[in-house]
Amino acid sequence: MTVSELIRTKRAVRQFTDEPLSEEAIRSILNAGRRAQSSKNTQPWHFIAIRDRATLRQLAECGAYAGHLASAPFSAPFAVGLVSSTADSFDLGQAAAYMQLAAWELGIGSCIASMWEPEKVKAILGVPQDRHFDVAISFGYPLQPRAVSCSKTKWAQAVR
Ligand SMILES: Cc1cc2nc3c(=O)[nH]c(=O)nc-3n(C[C@H](O)[C@H](O)[C@H](O)COP(=O)(O)O)c2cc1C
Repeated sequence: MTVSELIRTKRAVRQFTDEPLSEEAIRSILNAGRRAQSSKNTQPWHFIAIRDRATLRQLAECGAYAGHLASAPFSAPFAVGLVSSTADSFDLGQAAAYMQLAAWELGIGSCIASMWEPEKVKAILGVPQDRHFDVAISFGYPLQPRAVSCSKTKWAQAVR
């Protein structure tokens, strides 16, 4: 798919099959995040690749809408925790988008999980107190195909 096709067809995926992600696919996803642009090229991120089922279950309890982190069947849990050295979430958003599009190019769906209890998350993963951890992303092969169309801001409202 071209970049514009990837952008047009990528939708949040919250339920996954039990097909495991290959090591190569996981590396491609993480590399895409690593290469993202950032303010002054500070690259203020660290990525934690989380595959342990019990840990994912714990993280899924740290956000009201984070259940999809643990929704992947046993053989295929994988998520990336985005840890930042700054409170500026713009750069992390760039890395997240790159990772999600790189995944989608491989047919791998994803969804962000907002961590409503970041202090609890940091304790679970051993993240230093001076770091920020507000978001994790679940990745996996979609259980069901999702409709491409969904309600988005109309062209005339978004562009002037
Ligand atoms: C900053 C941010 C936080 C999000 N947090 C959650 C979340 O906690 N749980 C969830 O299921 N989806 C979460 N999402 C996914 C959005 O709900 C989803 O992208 C949006 O509804 C649009 O749907 P689409 O991605 O299919 O176009 C988040 C997305 C962003 C950008």
